Amino acid sequence: MCGIVAYIGKKEAYPILIKGLKRLEYRGYDSAGIALLSGGNVNLYKKQGKVANLEEFATGKDISGHSGIGHTRWATHGLPNDINSHPHTSMDGKIALIHNGIIENYDSIKEELISRGYIFKSETDTEVLVHLIDDIQKHEKVDLVEAVRLALQSVIGAYAIVVLSKEFPNQLVAARKSSPLVVGIGAEGDFYLASDATPIIEYTKQVVYLDDEEIAVVDLKEGLKIINIKNQVKAPYIQELEMHLEALEKGGYEHFMLKEIHEQPRSIKDCFRGRLNAEKGWVSLGGLKDYQQKIMNSKRLVMVACGTSWHACQVGEYLIEDLARINVEVEYASEFRYRNPIINEDDIVIAVSQSGETADTMAALELAKSKGATILGICNVVGSSISRITDAGSYTHAGPEIGVASTKAFTAQVTVLTLMALSLANRKGTLSSSKFHTMLSELEAIPDKVQRILDKNDLIEEIAKVYKDASNALYLGRGSSFPVALEGALKLKEISYIHAEGYPAAEMKHGPIALIDEEMPVFVIATKGTSYEKVVSNIQEVKARKGKIIAIVTEGDVQVRDLADHVIEIPDTDEHLVPLLATIPLQLLSYHISVMRGCNVDQPRNLAKSVTVE
Ligand code: M6R
Repeated sequence: MCGIVAYIGKKEAYPILIKGLKRLEYRGYDSAGIALLSGGNVNLYKKQGKVANLEEFATGKDISGHSGIGHTRWATHGLPNDINSHPHTSMDGKIALIHNGIIENYDSIKEELISRGYIFKSETDTEVLVHLIDDIQKHEKVDLVEAVRLALQSVIGAYAIVVLSKEFPNQLVAARKSSPLVVGIGAEGDFYLASDATPIIEYTKQVVYLDDEEIAVVDLKEGLKIINIKNQVKAPYIQELEMHLEALEKGGYEHFMLKEIHEQPRSIKDCFRGRLNAEKGWVSLGGLKDYQQKIMNSKRLVMVACGTSWHACQVGEYLIEDLARINVEVEYASEFRYRNPIINEDDIVIAVSQSGETADTMAALELAKSKGATILGICNVVGSSISRITDAGSYTHAGPEIGVASTKAFTAQVTVLTLMALSLANRKGTLSSSKFHTMLSELEAIPDKVQRILDKNDLIEEIAKVYKDASNALYLGRGSSFPVALEGALKLKEISYIHAEGYPAAEMKHGPIALIDEEMPVFVIATKGTSYEKVVSNIQEVKARKGKIIAIVTEGDVQVRDLADHVIEIPDTDEHLVPLLATIPLQLLSYHISVMRGCNVDQPRNLAKSVTVE
């Protein structure tokens, strides 16, 4: 939530910042702003709306400067208008600051500062920080770094900040706590700072991920120095980025979401590459190897996540319980962290997160860790906060996901959880050898089957045309297709703003059936398997109330075809792997409906990709 980017060096800062903000726009797009140090002045440009608005606003103005900071906002405190946009400046305009996070005690700090004569322009929590730093600097007669350090000691909450001051033109000061921040080390003695590596990758692959309560000082004369807020010096740990620039471009697709949907044959393959060999009957998740025994012996696994990742965990629960016979509990991270959960030292708590930065998921993990549980992570973003605080974990290797609606991250998460379930089942002996081998082969065949579904895009687009004006939609599924139904409903509502709900098919008659009439599209996952006949009965019940049925069926199905208004066939596979296939047509349906309704597919209203506030 909120993206920050900064540059100091010999290059012009503005083009780097604008490009960086566009890359970070998925983190929030309520407003954007830039502050540039030019000719000894801090020049400020801020605009409500997207980065493109800011760009237009800055056209023709003085955008020179070799040092600057930029911000794209997801509003928390105060309306998304020009004034509340970042950067915020000190009253004398000497200091400018950008912030991602929430200052929880901003009210009390603000009151104190007002009593000392500070005048606030915005309604944001962030503005207190810039005045506080200014105040400390003036009264304590300290330099910028020390003022930032002392200011952060008074702050409760989450922050990633970058501060620029005209009194220290060779320097930018950055810090983080619970919100991500990466430092890029350029080849020409220049430096980049950003919420994630996407704005940096084009210029350097050498990065340092800051840890909580660390302050990075990038100085054109003295280089990079890292201290913590207790003033202890830390040695920077420089890492080499493995990301590629092409992964951040649309590559000819109209939207990132469409590109990411189409990437799934590859992303699923990347996810199991080196971890699965059907021919040799072998599966292993290297990152979890040291904990395999502990997981096998544990009485329960607790999975914590939010949104789409929570749906992936639900699929994981079905898989691990059924195949490996280990008790799994899936929790919304936001609920888990506040409900005084019972956590024992022999519990294993697994966080699943695309971004690896979701505030609630992080907090749930921290809570579990404080109670002595083993904490593991399944993340997509390499070097993310969750991947760094966990005892061990597995990356999903889906590549950067830019569209706010999660697609390839979901199938990659489900793939990792499937590998985990299979590996545990094999070691525990809860799966027969022949079933284990068959499932490995079936999993290896999934990418090609996903491709076959993607090839039905035209059919899916035609169906989308029929339902694009619906006001409500129901999604039904049973077993591990129930979380797929939830995920289908989430995709539709978040990008097309159609109200949609996912239900276990049999639950429909306990309430939602009252909603069904001839206007109501009901998307049903009715693939071959244990509950097939039951789902057929549920379809009959919808039919009897004149609901419109769009069914996802196994290739060759005739029974549902006779009942449904539309069918989308997916290739046959092992029942446990159906979620990896059944989710694809639902993603495409939502995508096309969103486009037809003229919605912003990649950046739906009110949302942000990475939810770093609670
Ligand atoms: O980065 P995470 O996987 O932790 O994010 C969790 C949710 O915020 C995320 O899945 C959200 O629900 C997506 N917009 C769904 O498409």
